[in-house]
Amino acid sequence: MLTFSFANGDRLPALGLGTWKAAPGAVYTAVLEALSIGYRHIDCAPIYQNEAEVGKALTKAFAAGQVDRQELWLTSKLWNGSHGPEQVQPALKKSLTDLGVDYIDLYLIHWPVIFKSGVTYPRRADDYLPFSIDSLSQTWQALEACKTAGLVRHIGVCNFSVAKLRALQSEAGIRPEMNQVELHPYLQQNDMLNFCRDNGILVTAYSPLGSGDRPAALKKAEEPILLDNPTVVRIAEKHGCTAAQVLLAWALARKTAAIPKSVNPERLQQNLSAAELVIDEQDMADIAALDRGYRFVDGAFFTGKGSPYTVAGIWDERR
Ligand code: A2P
Repeated sequence: MLTFSFANGDRLPALGLGTWKAAPGAVYTAVLEALSIGYRHIDCAPIYQNEAEVGKALTKAFAAGQVDRQELWLTSKLWNGSHGPEQVQPALKKSLTDLGVDYIDLYLIHWPVIFKSGVTYPRRADDYLPFSIDSLSQTWQALEACKTAGLVRHIGVCNFSVAKLRALQSEAGIRPEMNQVELHPYLQQNDMLNFCRDNGILVTAYSPLGSGDRPAALKKAEEPILLDNPTVVRIAEKHGCTAAQVLLAWALARKTAAIPKSVNPERLQQNLSAAELVIDEQDMADIAALDRGYRFVDGAFFTGKGSPYTVAGIWDERR
């Protein structure tokens, strides 16, 4: 299985299973199926509201001897309402309990967005706290302490712009080891990839298939359907594979891990097999031309009435 290495030699299986949007009732079976066909990397988060169910599947798989804890890579994330330094370890311990494990391989700050302590979904202006690097650095120090305590093996962030990564790095004792961001042919983020490569930060691509099953409330009125893109479909026909496999092979060829979500046995297998697909230079060039800086997950859900956050501010982009 293709892996990407951390500085200490630990290896991240490049193709993982995404669990965002995997419904209660479905995720248990999906995780067991994934483990049985060879997935060894599962991406989780408490905000997905299904970590306990993922944990039940893991407990079953461990008990059945289907997989050892040491050969499995588990990622989880710190939610925006738990950024207070004293909240970090309790939040992590809740994930450990829910997942039924005593350490997590990779723990990430989920968003560069801060809520008042305990808020899950903000409803009012005062549910938000303004972003500041100083505040983020204090959260980060608490993650560093979790690593030092052996509760997590690696620490990193999600949804960070290059500017925010730079700022965090300059304050950090232990530098971030991962940035998990939305990446696919419509949002290629080459500057981000170059920055991360130059700074020893691994990158994981989320929503690599275009995240078509997002709830309607999180979708824009007109969204492009990545899996139907004619160039991607043509390349799939050329190789006798599916569009999803082309998207995943492209992600891995760029040396980014990818965490496609599926709860369907056939598609779970299809996605895992994409790691064996090699797409050629012409395919890479044709896909490179599809970039349009398009975000399916733009963070607009954090910019409601009274919020100090804007989409442009989250990504440090001029709009
Ligand atoms: P399902 O879970 O029914 O398989 P993303 O990972 O970008 O968020 O995309 C997840 C969406 O893509 C889900 O709707 C998922 O549906 C679907 N999906 C996952 N794998 C495939 C595949 N190989 N072909 C087509 N759709 C897929």
